[in-house]
Amino acid sequence: MAVIKSLPELIKGDILCDDIYFKDKLLLLSAGTVINREAVKKLATWGIRQVNVIEPLGYNGSKETKRKKKDKILYSRQLFDIKQLFYEGLQYVVNESRYGYVLNNDYQLRWLENLFVAIMSDDRISITLFRLKRVDSYSYFHSFDVFLLGSLFAKSLGVEDIKTFATGCLIHDVGKLKIPKEILRKEGKLTKSEFEVMQNHTIYGVEWVRKNNLSPIFEQLIKSHHERLDGSGYPEGLVDHELSTEVRLLSIVDTYSALTLKRPYRDPFTATKAIELLLNKKHKYDLAFLICYIELLNIYPTDSIVKLSNGKTARVKEVNETQPYRPILEELDGSGIFELPVNLSVTIPKFIKWDSIYEWDQKNDNHLRENFWGNYLVNLMNGNINEAIESYKVLANGMSNEGIFIDIIVKSIKEIGEKWEAGQLSVGEEHDALLGIQEILSLTLERPRKMD
Ligand SMILES: [Fe+2]
Ligand SMILES: [Fe+2]
Repeated sequence: MAVIKSLPELIKGDILCDDIYFKDKLLLLSAGTVINREAVKKLATWGIRQVNVIEPLGYNGSKETKRKKKDKILYSRQLFDIKQLFYEGLQYVVNESRYGYVLNNDYQLRWLENLFVAIMSDDRISITLFRLKRVDSYSYFHSFDVFLLGSLFAKSLGVEDIKTFATGCLIHDVGKLKIPKEILRKEGKLTKSEFEVMQNHTIYGVEWVRKNNLSPIFEQLIKSHHERLDGSGYPEGLVDHELSTEVRLLSIVDTYSALTLKRPYRDPFTATKAIELLLNKKHKYDLAFLICYIELLNIYPTDSIVKLSNGKTARVKEVNETQPYRPILEELDGSGIFELPVNLSVTIPKFIKWDSIYEWDQKNDNHLRENFWGNYLVNLMNGNINEAIESYKVLANGMSNEGIFIDIIVKSIKEIGEKWEAGQLSVGEEHDALLGIQEILSLTLERPRKMD
């Protein structure tokens, strides 16, 4: 295709399309002349500024297209580096012992890869993160881990602007680049004064956002990710109502990641231990979100009471730390102990309670028990024996046979009797309720002794 070129753009091999005349009279070069150094010199001498040429075969383009091509090569090189970084990160942080089976899914993986590429296509972010990786690889991989887990968590909760939250997760610790290396890389517990210096990474992170003209939306996430609901966090000691939803989510994921990743000076906590620690500190973290997080990973600590996908209720008896999402379960009706099947034909979609929470949150738990007790009685009176048994299993959890007899069987006979006397029950309802209690009594008597 013919193009108009100025003299500096001409290259050896260009072919003139037209005869070139000086003042329309003197033929300088004829159409078809192949451009060489002499031809360019002649055109320059006679003051010709531009000519119409066809570029030689095999020519890859003008300087402009060459520049575009170079940009394209540079971009694909960057894209390659970013994707390589993504897969390097996956190898470093992702395994079933920490992620459950939430990432055993090609669709989720592709989604995360695209999200990572989209965020890292901003040079201000990618340059800083490549630097963080060089300076302190632990901080980088931890940030990447928080990005993966945080994005999956936000997605499961239906957070509206996931890209913003995911970006916040990825850059939440960039302020660590300003922390002296001897503190950042110290292998061991930080002294009080060193810890005070380390705490500044939240403030330095905000400065980095401002310096790089990034959206102020990231400032709160970076600044407040170490704040806690009870006011024990830093840098401002904010409390419950002062913490946004996003900060609550990030603080759970950040702590879980930090506890479960290996450090040179300590072994990582197992996923179940980390979850136990978080549950024990539920006055610091948002319990409702924490439970959602546990259900996302499908990792439940020992002694959790869980709802199974087959509708049954069970207690987590033992957790295999390499595959924590396949614990050994004990059905609460005492009908069996089994390991969650490899093909996950039965799963644990719901966390009901954990012993420690029962102790710490007696008030809520009493409320929960009242609900179960109410459901138990209503289902007995309506003749819904299976539903009544489900509530009974939760109520009976952890109780001895003697306790069940006194606190459930006798108590329910008494309450049914009182309702009958008060005229609140029909003959049929009383009859159904007593038959149901009889069935539950036989279940109790069949319970293995070790449950006592
Ligand atoms: Fe941090
Ligand atoms: Fe962190």
